[in-house]
Amino acid sequence: MRRLFIAGNWKMNMKLDSAKALAEGLKAEAAGVGEVDIAVCPPFVYIPAVAEILAGSNIGYGAQNVYFEKAGAFTGEIETAMLTDFNCKYVILGHSERRHIMGESSELVNKKVHAALAAGLTPIVCVGELLSEREAGVTSQVNRRQFDGSFSGVSAEDMKKCVIAYEPVWAIGTGKVATPEQAQEVHADLRALMTERYGKEVADVVRIQYGGSVKANNAQELLSKPDIDGALVGGASLKVDAFMGIINACRSIQK
Ligand code: PGA
Repeated sequence: MRRLFIAGNWKMNMKLDSAKALAEGLKAEAAGVGEVDIAVCPPFVYIPAVAEILAGSNIGYGAQNVYFEKAGAFTGEIETAMLTDFNCKYVILGHSERRHIMGESSELVNKKVHAALAAGLTPIVCVGELLSEREAGVTSQVNRRQFDGSFSGVSAEDMKKCVIAYEPVWAIGTGKVATPEQAQEVHADLRALMTERYGKEVADVVRIQYGGSVKANNAQELLSKPDIDGALVGGASLKVDAFMGIINACRSIQK
């Protein structure tokens, strides 16, 4: 039994006023939703304002990244305790924009996964292949390698607390959504890998979100697939109606 989990990744797409308005709008519209888990990940500087609005609501929140070191001389970085100070529950790690624009390796993502778990945060760990890798037929190898690298040394008990997001890089922000069959194939492969590494009991409870151009009109078909347990949503999480459309489309799906 896996509860669906819909998370919004707001990226660098707002200012304070719009972040607050979005949080207020979602809080009001999602108030009656009990069937799925919901979260939003604002930019770091808007976390305090969003936290104040969402406190006590059914919408969790978190960050889009975190550094792995504890307090110290790390100019420009944010540590896990700074996120838990504001009661963040989640942190997105290894998003493709961090892997490919900022050059983050799975080794670095792995350190962040361990730091997040040690702080009691739920890591949402992204994996996904480039278009060239899909075309070269190495989709499975790429995703398996990113999984193994990102979760190296994570215990079975901790693995159960993690969320995976499969985000084919070619589908992010492009409007080119993976077909439900393409996405299901990778999700099933990742679950099979988790079973190899951790056993069925762990693999059965870990949620694997799909991300990449999820919208209200494709969410239900994607999330109805047996191994797709939610969505990590970029563009469509920036408007209350669009995000609620995804949530409402998936409320009746049971895993
Ligand atoms: P998108 O972004 O929904 O805009 O494609 C997804 C993501 O980057 O998490």
